[in-house]
Amino acid sequence: MTMTTSGIERLNALPQRPYLPGPSPLQRMERLSESLDGPDLLVKRDDTLPLAMGGNKVRKLAYVVADALAHGADTLITAGALQSNHCLLTLAAANREGLACRLVLEERIPGTYDPQAGGNNFLYRLLGAERIDVVGRGDTAGGLRRAAAAARSEGRTPYVIPVGGSNPLGGCGYASCAVELLAQLVEMGLTADRIVCASGSGGTHAGLVAGLIAAGSDVEVTGVNVSRPRAEQESSVTALTEAILAFLEIDAALAPDRIACRDEWLGPGYSLPSADMLNAVATVARTQGIVLDPVYTGKAMAGLIGMIRGGELTAGQTVIFLHTGGTAALFASQGMFTAALG
Ligand SMILES: Cc1ncc(COP(=O)(O)O)c(C=O)c1O
Repeated sequence: MTMTTSGIERLNALPQRPYLPGPSPLQRMERLSESLDGPDLLVKRDDTLPLAMGGNKVRKLAYVVADALAHGADTLITAGALQSNHCLLTLAAANREGLACRLVLEERIPGTYDPQAGGNNFLYRLLGAERIDVVGRGDTAGGLRRAAAAARSEGRTPYVIPVGGSNPLGGCGYASCAVELLAQLVEMGLTADRIVCASGSGGTHAGLVAGLIAAGSDVEVTGVNVSRPRAEQESSVTALTEAILAFLEIDAALAPDRIACRDEWLGPGYSLPSADMLNAVATVARTQGIVLDPVYTGKAMAGLIGMIRGGELTAGQTVIFLHTGGTAALFASQGMFTAALG
């Protein structure tokens, strides 16, 4: 008799660095639920994961850095926006492993890079990024290629991590998170109707859906877009979900409506403030004592509040908000909050 290995077993067998202390907390947000007269709201606190300032990259990097070490890497190279949480977390993981770390930062608006800026930029310096290359809009892939070639020419063994850590291996971090979350819900005697998360490079969103499929759960996931219009994001998250399912050898068709992305709370664009985001960050801080970020979780929370106010999510339902971290960026964005704080 041949034994078949399930997707969950394959996920559990993936080599992983020990960055996770155990499940991240799943907490009720009673005061926010009450203030909105809405569903039972819970928050999955991935902002509390223990590397640098925490956040979703910890789960992705636990797998990706294990792979880098298996390839004999001595230098991690990755890319992101000027205030990239992913760059910070990659640097933190490199420090923990005794590896060098080089960053490629995309200056989307010419002249906006300020080496003395606060937030994550300050932390790049504090944690000691070995080298920072600033590239123009759309030149991230080229910047990564050049940085890897330069490292090789110096005799290094570089390992390039894509933007957001969002390849199939990184996405497995959120497949595991979905399995972890389902177990917590069972323990609490709850069934979730919806999970709401920010959807950027898509690894978090895609990983969650792949993990739910692997576990046989049909909980809906709504990704709130932070950078792209709906159709574009849905097709990119669909492709990544399919790639994660294939990577885990899960033979399940992805239903066309399984990937839902929303762009109503994108505001003027990536990292640009909207009134809904500013109000959402202030509301959650003032009702729950939880600090969100202005680029990702603030917009995702604006989406969650918008879906409740619009009647799409209602009392009697159970909704999980995934807090993916990113709070360091707040300290480079204080000015935008002046009006919202009154
Ligand atoms: C704080 C935070 N939340 C959410 C996201 C979005 O996650 P993903 O890129 O996996 O879509 C990011 C990505 O950088 C992030 O830094």
